[in-house]
Amino acid sequence: MRLYIASDHAGFHVKEFVKGLFTERGYEVVDLGPESDDRVDYPDFAAKVARAVAQEEGSQGVLICGTGIGMSIAANKIRGIRAAEVHDYYTAQMARAHNDANILCFGERVVGKGVIESIVEAWCSTPFEGGRHAQRVEKIMALESEGERDGN
Ligand code: RB5
Repeated sequence: MRLYIASDHAGFHVKEFVKGLFTERGYEVVDLGPESDDRVDYPDFAAKVARAVAQEEGSQGVLICGTGIGMSIAANKIRGIRAAEVHDYYTAQMARAHNDANILCFGERVVGKGVIESIVEAWCSTPFEGGRHAQRVEKIMALESEGERDGN
């Protein structure tokens, strides 16, 4: 599976660590930047990863900023994206099992490396449950067309 990853300056310091965790699990990791911890705007990097994931069926993404909040808000503006901001094993597990999230977001200022390891473990080992959750995810995705109809 191909995994697109990016951060802003506030998430840059754990990006290499997170890349290693996914590579160990057999993912093909594509780093979309930045290349240093110079100050950048997180929506630019959220857009890069979200567009890549939206264009490639079956791919996933990871976005790291200070809190994970800005990255998830920005990524969810791109059609086809379900970006989930998670805090721990449980929320990462549920993001996959119930929401079929295709982009994982978290904050370097919020979670330490031990928690990041457990988040990645949950994300990689949890399939989407489907069933009643599939119907709900379809309803989420239908909201995208509603926005277009209203000219938003
Ligand atoms: C940068 O200071 C910070 O605002 C950003 O990393 C992120 O937390 C935004 O949601």
